[in-house]
Amino acid sequence: MNSPANLVGTVRHFLDITDVDGTTLAKLIAEARRRKAARKGLAHGVPDADKPLEGRVLAMIFDKQSTRTRISFDVGMRQLGGTTIMLTGSEMQLAREETIADTARVLSRYVDAVMIRLLDHEMVQDLAANAGIPVINGLTKLSHPCQVLADLMTFEERKGPIKGRVVAWSGDSNNVCASWIQAAVQMGFTLRVASPPELSARPVLRHWVKANGGDVHFGTDPEKAVAGAECVVSDAWVSMGDEDSTKRHNLLKAYQVNARLMSRAAEGAIFMHCLPAHRGEEVTDDVIDGSQSAVWDEAENRLHAQKAILMWCLGKL
Ligand code: CP
Ligand code: NVA
Repeated sequence: MNSPANLVGTVRHFLDITDVDGTTLAKLIAEARRRKAARKGLAHGVPDADKPLEGRVLAMIFDKQSTRTRISFDVGMRQLGGTTIMLTGSEMQLAREETIADTARVLSRYVDAVMIRLLDHEMVQDLAANAGIPVINGLTKLSHPCQVLADLMTFEERKGPIKGRVVAWSGDSNNVCASWIQAAVQMGFTLRVASPPELSARPVLRHWVKANGGDVHFGTDPEKAVAGAECVVSDAWVSMGDEDSTKRHNLLKAYQVNARLMSRAAEGAIFMHCLPAHRGEEVTDDVIDGSQSAVWDEAENRLHAQKAILMWCLGKL
């Protein structure tokens, strides 16, 4: 688990939802919504001339595939007036055993911030600990904070303030789920997680919830979890780096979000999924394509939420 102790000097890293308190999360969401509205204005001829990151360079390192994270960070940085450099782990000397710490020291002499997608969470923490510039977690095996900031924004756009509301998770207690768990504590909402016992949340995360007085319920029954919830969330049964595909499919079959499960949620409940979706597995076509689905807004909101993160990391918010 990450903590504010990850902050090196005054450098603002965004490695986990726990790096920012509830007030800062609210500030990030407000800025994201303001910038989203400004872009919509641009589409109608009102110029969005504010370029707070002019002259700044973001290095993006991807050790795993990405569609949304890669494109939304690239476009977001350009909209803020900055530029990006796209790198993959395999083309860097990292692949020839240069340490992540030395890589951090060198990158800090060239660019203004780094966004990295690397499954090994500790390596990303190590990168941040040795960087004199902000590091943003673009997904590790343990968390996906940029995704969940966009999800919080999406919930609030559709349903109003999330504080005190009920959200349900059905499926693997994976990286996205972990960031939702952290968000529930930081933002003060109820989260009901339903997962097979073999794929439940890590004990360290459960202890942290308890120690921080969070209202997060860990169970195994998806129907109980979604009963009366205003938002139902699911994700892939097999995440990047998972190898036990057949076992996971068998364990997670009962956690599929379909019309029957959605009918147990509150009236007007929304469905969220970080994408990419595996239709017919964790979610059925009628749900993801139906009127309750918020998944395309979620994908769009990655762009706006990450612009707020970039501004915060670079001291412009
Ligand atoms: N949701 C998400 O992070 O998508 P990508 O893997 O396409 O970046
Ligand atoms: N849980 C998924 C999210 C993909 C954006 C994974 O880690 O592969």
